[in-house]
Amino acid sequence: MHISLDRLLADLHELATFGATVDGGVERTSFSPADLAARQWLSQRCDDAGLTLRRDGIGNLFARLGDQPGPAVWTGSHLDSVPNGGRFDGALGVLCSLEALRTIAESGTPPPRPLQLVVFADEEGCYHHLLGSTAVVQGFDADILAEMVGRDGRRLTDALRSAGIDPAEATTTTVDPADVHAFVELHIEQGVTLEGAGAQIGVVESIVGLGGGALTFLGRADHAGTTPMHLRRDPMRGAACFLSHLQQVVAEAGDGRSVATCGRLAVAPGADNIVAQRITVFLDFRDPDRKVLEALEQAMVQRARACAAEHDVEVSYERGSLTDPVPLDEGVRATIAEVADEQGRTLRHLPSGAGHDSQLMARIAPAGMIFVPSRDGRSHSPAEHTAADDIEAGANVLLHTLLRLAGT
Ligand code: GLV
Ligand code: MN
Ligand code: MN
Repeated sequence: MHISLDRLLADLHELATFGATVDGGVERTSFSPADLAARQWLSQRCDDAGLTLRRDGIGNLFARLGDQPGPAVWTGSHLDSVPNGGRFDGALGVLCSLEALRTIAESGTPPPRPLQLVVFADEEGCYHHLLGSTAVVQGFDADILAEMVGRDGRRLTDALRSAGIDPAEATTTTVDPADVHAFVELHIEQGVTLEGAGAQIGVVESIVGLGGGALTFLGRADHAGTTPMHLRRDPMRGAACFLSHLQQVVAEAGDGRSVATCGRLAVAPGADNIVAQRITVFLDFRDPDRKVLEALEQAMVQRARACAAEHDVEVSYERGSLTDPVPLDEGVRATIAEVADEQGRTLRHLPSGAGHDSQLMARIAPAGMIFVPSRDGRSHSPAEHTAADDIEAGANVLLHTLLRLAGT
């Protein structure tokens, strides 16, 4: 049994029109009009394939093949993108899963276990990192949901309403682990390992530990024209000092695999003619080892304190989250490797430096991930690209991994 590459590429091409940007990428942040339109389009595709559709209270979509009782084999990824993102992150996994289910449906020989495509809502964390899979695995209380605000300032509850979902439904999303036999997600690697090794298939061993937090440098707002330079308590100086040392902190406190990023700053009050009162430096830091992650966090806070003292401002740190590295299931990994081997694909076992919904699904079911190469390792940018023959290889490995897990 083989997937249809032509049909898969046509879908990929059409999906990329939702939120298309002039430079060839997509802007499809969660619950934006482009995201909602893409979800509508996908629902129609699933319906055309004869799959049974369902949506839960947080906006996850499910499309099922087979009405046998018992746990299903789940597969899927996400359709939302980062701001100014690429066409492949998440989207490729969803479409490969759809293509695999469609191929199985057309074969006329359904496997013993049902299969279910899942499209997780807000993987990219406009409202909450891995929102949809977190809702499936542990759920959210109403008061937490009511407080969630997106990067654009919109409330999640308003976003849900715009998607036709009553926010009261969003507290009822958890799934019984007994209903999930296994989960498999195909995704672009978003790094250079596979390309460098000349391998078409990656079997993901584990997903990186991820920290998020905010350093707030506090100074004194003053007139930009009348306050002499030596009389200022400018928090921008503290933040700039910290950021200029960040690479060194990672080199000293990390283990060679660590990364730390500030991709967002908030400046208050935020006007050209006011010395800032407050600068918030949002941090994303990652490492496959929890202990290293904690040491890195501590080293960053220490450096921020030293910079604040040097520039006569204050600093405080608030941890947003710290998630453990997640090993993926050995059995699912072995199945993926076996299938790839049988199909004559070159294979590499590797960790994931990106977060994925699989890290949540691993809490309720045996979970595995298939990586396909990313050209030049580029991702979270319109430069994302994966070659057609790599897509075909990945989709066929996914297809036969699903068949095997579903008992064929
Ligand atoms: C998800 O894309 C992440 O931030 O790793
Ligand atoms: Mn991403
Ligand atoms: Mn992704």
